[in-house]
Amino acid sequence: MKTCIIYHSYSGVTRGIAEKISAACGGDLVEVAPKDNYSTLSAYSLGCLRARKEACDPISPDSIDVSSYDLIVIGTPVWAWKATPAINGAIAALIGCEGKTAVIFATCGSSAKDTLPIIKSKLEQKGVRITGEVVLSKSEISKNEKINDLITAVRTATGSG
Ligand SMILES: Cc1cc2nc3c(=O)[nH]c(=O)nc-3n(C[C@H](O)[C@H](O)[C@H](O)COP(=O)(O)O)c2cc1C
Repeated sequence: MKTCIIYHSYSGVTRGIAEKISAACGGDLVEVAPKDNYSTLSAYSLGCLRARKEACDPISPDSIDVSSYDLIVIGTPVWAWKATPAINGAIAALIGCEGKTAVIFATCGSSAKDTLPIIKSKLEQKGVRITGEVVLSKSEISKNEKINDLITAVRTATGSG
């Protein structure tokens, strides 16, 4: 079972979780970044506006071919209660994802609200089946419980759980 862990991280939290999943379950890490980087000011103004609109940022890498993977893990920070425009761009940039399974997660300050349902729907439109969803709020990130839930969801999806 090959796993591809795709994530965006503005300030490092989501990257840290993605690295923990990779360390525990294996899997290749693919960090996506907007081609036009956000400053703190533009993240809270333009970035949040684009997140609310569910807009796709042009990202690096331009496309993500997951055809050689069995499981996709996608992680996003929450911006304005939704996924970041970079993760929307990453989902749009997925190639070869039809028929695959995915585990999705979001890291947030306190509330992820619409984030995972929206990502789930976008992935389902591309023929991806979601088998696990985990939200990690700031207070939960320092504890192991939710991270363990996420690792269990990934292991279960790979058949090693
Ligand atoms: C522009 C911006 C908007 C945010 N909006 C929310 C929000 O709507 N709800 C929330 O709980 N946290 C919000 N946060 C906090 C982040 O989701 C949280 O700190 C996340 O873990 C950061 O992940 P990262 O370090 O991988 O970028 C926001 C942070 C930024 C920078």
